[in-house]
Amino acid sequence: MFDIEITGTGRYVPENKVTNHDLAALVDTSDEWITQMTGIKERRISLGEDTTEMAVQASLKAIEDAGLRPEEIDLIILATVTPTYYFPSAACLVQTRLGAGQATSFDISAGCTGFIYALNIAAQFIKCGTYKTALVVGAEVLSKITDWSDRKTCVLFADGAGAAVLQRGKAGIIASFTGADGRGADYLYCHGVPFGNQLVPVKDTQPHYTVMNGREVFKFAVNIMPESILKVLEGSGFTLNDIKYFIPHQANIRIIDSAAKKLKVDRDRFYVNIDKYGNTSSASIPIALDEMSRKGQLLPGDLIVVTGFGAGLTYGAHLIKWTKANY
Ligand code: UT7
Repeated sequence: MFDIEITGTGRYVPENKVTNHDLAALVDTSDEWITQMTGIKERRISLGEDTTEMAVQASLKAIEDAGLRPEEIDLIILATVTPTYYFPSAACLVQTRLGAGQATSFDISAGCTGFIYALNIAAQFIKCGTYKTALVVGAEVLSKITDWSDRKTCVLFADGAGAAVLQRGKAGIIASFTGADGRGADYLYCHGVPFGNQLVPVKDTQPHYTVMNGREVFKFAVNIMPESILKVLEGSGFTLNDIKYFIPHQANIRIIDSAAKKLKVDRDRFYVNIDKYGNTSSASIPIALDEMSRKGQLLPGDLIVVTGFGAGLTYGAHLIKWTKANY
């Protein structure tokens, strides 16, 4: 069994900012409602760059940050619900763009928990010795599956990508935990290609947009986020007090506030950047990690917990000891 550490991070968001005021010109909403109900002030919306392109940009930064060459990557796992194609995987497209020709490459779909799941899978491969160096990416262009006339969803979702390099090395990833409850699949979904063939005519009545029962997802999230944090700490020998930062999926400031309150943890120990980026699904946690790392907020020896929830419904967390030297 080998130890695993995060040795590099990177992020990429489109330049184009869309403010709450911009959205108020599009649907019946207001800056006040969006800010109070979600904590979002603005988000980045792509003007043409697709998931693969953004994933490549974030990955290049992460690989450079790790001090590696792309040829040294032997595994790429890309988490997304908005791949450029159904197939080939976005990971294969990223692999060739990076010149990481040695890397086994595949996508995974776990909604907004995608990065948490992907990190877990990559960690298992490294732990058991199959691979040494993995690139884990969360990349989304949610704007292309958003119904821009639906005020309940269009104010939330956004575009972006984040990446992390995992290597055999120090004991950085201390504990991991993932789970799913498919009974909640109807609460957050986007239909695929409708059924139909030469025998059965296509009956396309479903929109190819994100459909969400916000209330139900909210109820699920406020319970599962604190539960996931406690679960990943269980048996680790560490307690909530040992954790410097909690880095939650950025879906709604009220979910984060509620988790902090339930755990009786000072809210300042929960990292928040939802005001700037909105909900970027599987990209939100690696974007936050990279932002914190480059700002010097993460120091060698710091203990952090990353935690997510999302469509599926899925959830999970990792307890990580930061081992990367400061910038
Ligand atoms: O990554 C995981 C993805 N999703 C989530 O984490 C989402 C979790 N859920 C939420 O964050 C919240 O459910 C929302 C912020 C999406 C909505 O808050 P809510 O308290 O659950 O509101 P609601 O959907 O029950 O709607 C309350 C009212 C409704 O008006 P009426 O029917 O009471 O007159 C909505 O039509 O708020 C209205 N509303 C809006 N008003 C202004 C919904 N969206 C908007 C909007 N602007 N953008």
